[in-house]
Amino acid sequence: MKPIGVFDSGLGGISFLREAVALLPEESFIYYGDNKNAPYGDKDEATINRLALSCAKKLFDMNVKAIVVACNTATGTAIKSLREKFNIPIISMEPAIKPACEKKGSGKILMLATHTTTHMERYIRLRESMEDPARIIDVACPGLADRIEHSVFDEDAFDDLLSGYLRPYEGMQIDSIVLGCTHYVFIKDIIKRYADMHFSGDATIFDGGLGTARQLDRVLRQNSMRESEKAHGDIRFFTSGDEKTLLPIFDRLLYGNM
Ligand code: DGL
Repeated sequence: MKPIGVFDSGLGGISFLREAVALLPEESFIYYGDNKNAPYGDKDEATINRLALSCAKKLFDMNVKAIVVACNTATGTAIKSLREKFNIPIISMEPAIKPACEKKGSGKILMLATHTTTHMERYIRLRESMEDPARIIDVACPGLADRIEHSVFDEDAFDDLLSGYLRPYEGMQIDSIVLGCTHYVFIKDIIKRYADMHFSGDATIFDGGLGTARQLDRVLRQNSMRESEKAHGDIRFFTSGDEKTLLPIFDRLLYGNM
């Protein structure tokens, strides 16, 4: 059976891959990180669109049966053209504001994402479709995905950036924090610690990884593409960046010691 292709601007999409592998262990995956061009979040939409198309083309040429855009930024700009161009299922990734809004509370919801995602028409429409959109505060985090690309294992590397983005909300009641960028999931504990120290309330952290993995499962079943339960999938990594440095990092992010 064919593998499933997954791509992101860099290593962020591996946070989705962890969920997907746990949920669908029979499936094989090819992960492509466009690290050479990361971060996408500070690029214009036409450039992101072009880069996303090129990632998808690489995966398509490797004969994948479906593609997951494990990048909120690329989903917002490119999902339509990807679906027009490739005749296989393309699964998208969106900030998990829906489950965050379903958790009732009188406080606010912070949605952390790249600058591009917070300004995207697709995201703004999603936010407006929530019952109480005024509860959601969008927090653009320029530079954060890039810092994670370069310092993902360094716990102390994020304090300056986080306090820059989050200081305006200090003391406020924050019910939930949505990680609207797949990179941010790797510093989830650091964000939670910051929230516990600086906000009132016990903020729950949401990300779209598991929801997207479940959606992938649904789409594969609808298309009769699910691998047999007896199979044992494998995972292959590719990057547009320096393979010698990055492939061991991908491996560590997927398999452990986090
Ligand atoms: N990981 C990506 C996302 O989910 C984008 C990060 C970036 O390249 O700026 O939005």
